[in-house]
Amino acid sequence: MSTSSTTTNVAVPPSPAFSAGAHVPSMDAYESQWKRSIDDPEGYWGEVAADSHFFKKWDRVLEWKLPFAKWFAGAETNVSYNCLDFQIENGRGDHPAIIWEGEPVNDDGTPKDTLTLSYRQLHARVCQFANALKKQGIQKNDRVTIYMPMVPELAIAMLACARIGAPHSVIFGGFSGQAIADRLVDADSRHIITTDGGWRRGKVIPLKQNVDEACKLVDGKVDKVIVLKRCENEIQWEADRDVWWHEAIDGMSEDCPAERLDAEHMLFLLYTSGSTGKPKGILHTTAGYMIYTRHTAKHVFDLKPDDVYWCTADIGWITGHSYIVYGPLQNGVTNVMYEGGPNYPDWERFWQICDRYKVTKFYTAPTAIRAFMKQGAELPKKHDLSNLKLLGTVGEPINPAAWNWYDENIGGGRCPIVDTWWQTETGGIMITPLPGATPTKPGSATRPFFGIDPAVVDASGAPVPPNESGLLVIRKPWPGMLRGIYGDEARYRKQYWTEIDGCYFTGDGARCDEDGYFWIIGRVDDVIKVSGHRLGTAEIESALVSHPKVAEAAVIGYPDEMTGEAIAAFVTLKSGFEVDESLKQELKQHVGSTLGAIAKPKDVRFTDALPKTRSGKIMRRLLRELATTGHVKGDITTLEDLTTIATLNSEAS
Ligand code: WTA
Repeated sequence: MSTSSTTTNVAVPPSPAFSAGAHVPSMDAYESQWKRSIDDPEGYWGEVAADSHFFKKWDRVLEWKLPFAKWFAGAETNVSYNCLDFQIENGRGDHPAIIWEGEPVNDDGTPKDTLTLSYRQLHARVCQFANALKKQGIQKNDRVTIYMPMVPELAIAMLACARIGAPHSVIFGGFSGQAIADRLVDADSRHIITTDGGWRRGKVIPLKQNVDEACKLVDGKVDKVIVLKRCENEIQWEADRDVWWHEAIDGMSEDCPAERLDAEHMLFLLYTSGSTGKPKGILHTTAGYMIYTRHTAKHVFDLKPDDVYWCTADIGWITGHSYIVYGPLQNGVTNVMYEGGPNYPDWERFWQICDRYKVTKFYTAPTAIRAFMKQGAELPKKHDLSNLKLLGTVGEPINPAAWNWYDENIGGGRCPIVDTWWQTETGGIMITPLPGATPTKPGSATRPFFGIDPAVVDASGAPVPPNESGLLVIRKPWPGMLRGIYGDEARYRKQYWTEIDGCYFTGDGARCDEDGYFWIIGRVDDVIKVSGHRLGTAEIESALVSHPKVAEAAVIGYPDEMTGEAIAAFVTLKSGFEVDESLKQELKQHVGSTLGAIAKPKDVRFTDALPKTRSGKIMRRLLRELATTGHVKGDITTLEDLTTIATLNSEAS
């Protein structure tokens, strides 16, 4: 790998040494497999699926009635079985499945809490907890809400749900009680699995307290809360609703046969932000998601039996679902899992972990890389990173400077970098280099994965010429695709399938260069990505207007060197309320407690009026310009009231 090149359009091939042992060793091999997967998707995916375990084989690989897909129709399988029993059957029973490290450290810097579970041990724990779930009254099809920190029991809970056919809805631990309540109601979920607390940067996050708040908000709708003891922090207890995890599993058998589930059985819901205020429950099903995550994990990370793989994402996001739990376990590798912050007790923690467990494949977000860059190259140098063979990034565009730093200082110039583009909705990685085959260009996610047919088009759906920006669409169904938005078919059609006729609309802008390489520009809708976390401007706006002093609010994302994008909120107050500094803090806090700390605006500005078009639409473009450059120069001919811009300009200066 070259390290010094700043010319981003020059493709650097993988090293011959890496290619020689790779699953896909050359561009020719990639091209011919990709072509086959597009020309004959049913033949291709049928062959891929033959390597997984099915209780009953499919009648048809794909039934496609736009926008509804059935993959492996008629088959019966179980994802938990494929992650556990099938691995044991294949001789992986004593191989470590999860190596976990908690955040707190001893005086000598070693972690206080660690746990290694082999595939056999993980299987036993999953079965035992699955039996406990049944005992607590949870049945096939019941939606189970999971709100936990990064502890092994989170993966155990998901796999136990999958085993009995109870779809899980995992909520990221950074969301507040209100956000949990909204998701509970939407999913009509009556069961929650949580912990007393979770460690983050030396502090306890009061997870159970947030769950209690959510339960209060949904007013008696929650039947059971299973609580894992993690931090021993003080919590409130509701005797006829709450049950300790350790008591729930007490005496339960470690044998729980996996349910034979229909290929299209709902595996999970994962709530994510869209253009409107309400978060949407992205629905994924069993067989297609299973095959797609297994196959992408194998090829994108070039997984081999002895790999020690570490994805630093939180399981509360799709990256953790697909590439901590379901993808890697189906490949029988060792998964490293870490509970806490990258900078606890200091910025060396990640490199210590890589060193301690001899991590071979490492997958993280560009924001994290930029944060490490800022701390300097001396910190990773203090640790032995020589076992690393491959590096990955996900979640937001990676700037070439960060790409090059990652390559040189973490990968030692010898590790291929896979910049993987995908979404909660896509279930798995869609555009990515294949590490033994694809020459990389820093900043480009490169070429489509097998079976994926992306294009950059204009608003009418016509492909745009190379290097021109347009909308990124996918022209063919793929096994990992979402099957819907829970309970909202109209929104599913409108959001994804009507914008560009006959195509899946991603919501991203992109360009494709003369080599067929994709360069993701970013969202073209009202979704923003702060440190790779996906948030909707509309949900932050509704949090702001729920404050008694706020009349109107407009939220936009603007470029930020560290976090990719940052949140700015423009707020008008109800009459009678005065603007002052403390109110800014109060509003940030209010968003934090309504939605979660990750949604707090970096910048709050007060204005007498928001710039609107004559038809009453807020001119976000002007606000973005203002937040980015400090003033507005752009076209304001459709602006309703010019004095608004005059006020905003003078406020900014
Ligand atoms: C963005 C995360 C550029 C993109 C897996 C997408 C990226 C949104 C990349 C989905 C990448 C993800 N380069 N942008 N490699 N990966 N994105 O649902 O805007 O949290 O639409 O899924 O993240 O975010 P989500």
